[in-house]
Amino acid sequence: MANILCIGAGYVGGPTMAVIAKHCPQHRVDVVDINEEKIAAWQSDQLPIYEPGLKEIVLEVRDKNLFFSTEIDRHIAESDIIFVSVNTPTKTFGQGAGKAADLQYWEKTARQILENSSSPKIVVEKSTLPVRTAEAMERILNSNDKGLFFDVVSNPEFLAEGSAIRDMENPDRVLVGGRESSSGQEAVQAIVDIYAQWLPRERIITTNLWSSELSKLAANAFLAQRISSINAIAHLCEKTEADVTEVAHAIGTDSRLGPHFLRASVGFGGSCFKKDILNLVYLCEYYSLYEVATYWEQVVKMNEYQKANFVSKMVTAMFNSVAGKRIALFGVAFKANTSDTRESPALAVCRALLEERAQVVISDPYALDNARTDLSDVAEQVIFEPDPYVAAQDAHAIAILTEWPQFAELDYQAIHAAMIQPTFIFDGRNILDHKKLHQIGFNVYALGKPPRTHFPS
Ligand code: UDX
Ligand code: UDX
Repeated sequence: MANILCIGAGYVGGPTMAVIAKHCPQHRVDVVDINEEKIAAWQSDQLPIYEPGLKEIVLEVRDKNLFFSTEIDRHIAESDIIFVSVNTPTKTFGQGAGKAADLQYWEKTARQILENSSSPKIVVEKSTLPVRTAEAMERILNSNDKGLFFDVVSNPEFLAEGSAIRDMENPDRVLVGGRESSSGQEAVQAIVDIYAQWLPRERIITTNLWSSELSKLAANAFLAQRISSINAIAHLCEKTEADVTEVAHAIGTDSRLGPHFLRASVGFGGSCFKKDILNLVYLCEYYSLYEVATYWEQVVKMNEYQKANFVSKMVTAMFNSVAGKRIALFGVAFKANTSDTRESPALAVCRALLEERAQVVISDPYALDNARTDLSDVAEQVIFEPDPYVAAQDAHAIAILTEWPQFAELDYQAIHAAMIQPTFIFDGRNILDHKKLHQIGFNVYALGKPPRTHFPS
């Protein structure tokens, strides 16, 4: 039996540890966080995050072998393996501001581990970090006069929100990177043994530390790059009467490319893609690889353009003015099946529409509380409305900004009747039946498809 500790009870730490606790009943798993409110929520029936399947697992294992606490120091002292999943936001100050990862929480955590340890431990990087962070970690942890040795292992998370539990239960692969020394390899094996409790060994890839750290950044960069690529093609589709859904299907059937991550959208969001690519860009610049840096930076620039262009298309379509017009935004979560709004394109669209002096109403099944916090500086100008029918009442336009399946199932006939004519719908996720909406009377603008309007061309 081992005492496993996770520092950071967020989107990554919480679900990851719940699944580990479920499959490793022989181990005790503690999850700690500096945020008392968050820990109290993990201990209650109202978990701090919404993730399908999460609550069931937490209720099954909580207080059996999964525990949540704010007593970080005590649990460090008692642990054998420590996963660190504190946040690593983009630096907002000093050297590398706007690109580099801010590692202050990470370093503080390393020092806290050292201070409270009286036995050797395996420290696992779960957070996404710049390549060679493990080296800095080792230096901090192993510069001690207690005679203690710490092994640092990289085990990046590949969880996508909304499917985090499924991704943990049945991942394409788990990656564990470590030092080639014998103690490094033992540490790798200890982490492999945890995952091998429920995964076939061939799905657990072991590499050296730097490959593991870099693979995480590269995987996110490649995923985001596909979205920016299909979004770039969508613009060309709109000019040429090609249809991006058809193009994506045609491209994706090539087995070398595959069908996933080819959905054109108002832009990618989430806490990782932008942060990790900028982190990669910073690393390239650090190593004087300027052309490589520019190449990856373009993925983020394309995404910024995507959000701005979406709003500018709305304004143009609505007779070049949205001032005073009620506009219902359907969805504020950065993707479906999550309450998370971090870097959500919907927030950027909302702010740009407010600049245009539109009256913005936001509707979302799970993410309104987070959106209220994100938009607290403009809260007086935004209406938050859980019922999409009420949100669309007397609106001039609807914009679909999150691909919640329930938005495709609404009664658009009734919605249309309650809106101000002429009605506009902007499908930023291409999830609606555009032909049918047009027949109902909407002027329909989808991504990468010719608009369907009732105006003479
Ligand atoms: C985040 C990033 O999104 C991800 O890329 C990175 O790999 C890990 O950090 P996430 O779990 O989504 O992952 O972040 P968040 O939900 O903000 O959770 C981090 C938690 O760490 C927070 O609850 C915060 O209170 C906690 N924390 C932070 C500590 O416990 N101690 C600290 O010193 C700093
Ligand atoms: C991502 C990675 O997928 C995951 O492996 C990593 O650990 C963390 O970052 P996440 O951000 O939770 O996960 O969600 P993801 O499903 O990757 O979606 C990111 C964004 O891209 C969302 O805004 C989503 O709507 C958008 N997206 C995704 C598209 O616009 N088009 C697509 O085809 C796919």
